[in-house]
Amino acid sequence: MFPRGRKLLLGVSGGISAYKSCDLLRRLQEQGFIVDVVPTSASLNFVGKATWEALSGRKVLTDLWSEVEKVPHILMAKENDLIVIAPTTADLLAKLASGRADDLLTNIVLASTAPKILVPAMHTEMWSNPATVANVKTLQDRGFIVVAPDEGRMTGSDVGVGRYPEVSKIIEIINLTTHITADLAGKKILITAGGTREPIDPIRFIGNRSSGRQGFALAAAAASRGAQVHLIAANTDLPVIEGVTITSVETADQMAAVLEYEFSECDALIMSAAVADAKVANYSEQKIKKENLDVVSFSKNPDILRNLSEKKKPGQIIVGFAAETISGLAELQQRGEEKLVSKSLDLIYVNNVSDGAVFGSENTQGLIIDKNHNVIKVPQISKDTLSDILLDQLVGKLS
Ligand code: C5P
Repeated sequence: MFPRGRKLLLGVSGGISAYKSCDLLRRLQEQGFIVDVVPTSASLNFVGKATWEALSGRKVLTDLWSEVEKVPHILMAKENDLIVIAPTTADLLAKLASGRADDLLTNIVLASTAPKILVPAMHTEMWSNPATVANVKTLQDRGFIVVAPDEGRMTGSDVGVGRYPEVSKIIEIINLTTHITADLAGKKILITAGGTREPIDPIRFIGNRSSGRQGFALAAAAASRGAQVHLIAANTDLPVIEGVTITSVETADQMAAVLEYEFSECDALIMSAAVADAKVANYSEQKIKKENLDVVSFSKNPDILRNLSEKKKPGQIIVGFAAETISGLAELQQRGEEKLVSKSLDLIYVNNVSDGAVFGSENTQGLIIDKNHNVIKVPQISKDTLSDILLDQLVGKLS
């Protein structure tokens, strides 16, 4: 699974400014985009496949005839939310304007319904040639966004219009096109998901009903807003999210250990996991015979959130969750406020999980409470929508 709106295809055609797209790729990654690079064969004379693979961290296909069984041009056309071609040569503009598809990149463009941004870069004479002007007009009429080239020094001693624009200008147009704000770009966010399991013996455990859906929804939403997300998942069975670092844990102690290590570096911690309050004190290395399985004794688990709150640095934000079987709003709010205070949180989402609601479901309802006693009542909504609302609150507090 890819974070919503953050899967981008970067096409590179054969102009000398292809090297500038290495920087564009890095800046896009900083904004949380997951980028597949598709270079044309001519562009490989300027920047090689190995460079694109190393920078993107992803396999790079350069022709139509590799991995044919996966039908890559259709797959890539479907999975990408946006196509950016930088630089776009005069030749590629001509090909695209006439709807040709004789290599991987042009096949993807023809098969894709995603928005397409072209970044032409060429000598002034080629840019102002009536053939190029007509091709640009045709492409614009078909909905392609064409970024105007900059004016300045060309290869050699020429000066004029046709330069590859500033990377920041391209990024600005990309953000305007995707309509997704990168308001968490550059922020490191730790998110926990799922429910911890506390072993009784090598076969049995004590666990809870948390599916991890809320934590995964939060991770995908934060990644799509540009955050660098580390998801600590306890016993979940959900698809991985591309671009999100996932560490799997089983017990509360393991979760606490990962968080202890990572917390000081993060801007925010969102603790949506259901952490077991206690672990089994008389854990047996051997399977306990059923005739001996009468008494399980417990010892308290650490309160991970409370411990981390004590180490909180100025500017760090901590968000807690609480699952309660209370249906009265006033009592739910009171319980939420108590936990917010006792764990020194900035924000808490307290939800009513009575009658099997919320756990494992697509939906949730409850209250968002902050430490200034502001309360947002959340009606039945999807966990994706709740994630957006919670992150809006988080962004406000981070700034
Ligand atoms: O006290 P309660 O378990 O309801 O608090 C819930 C919040 O505290 C959740 O955010 C949960 O992840 C966190 N928690 C924790 N360590 C525990 C128990 C809960 O961090 N041992």
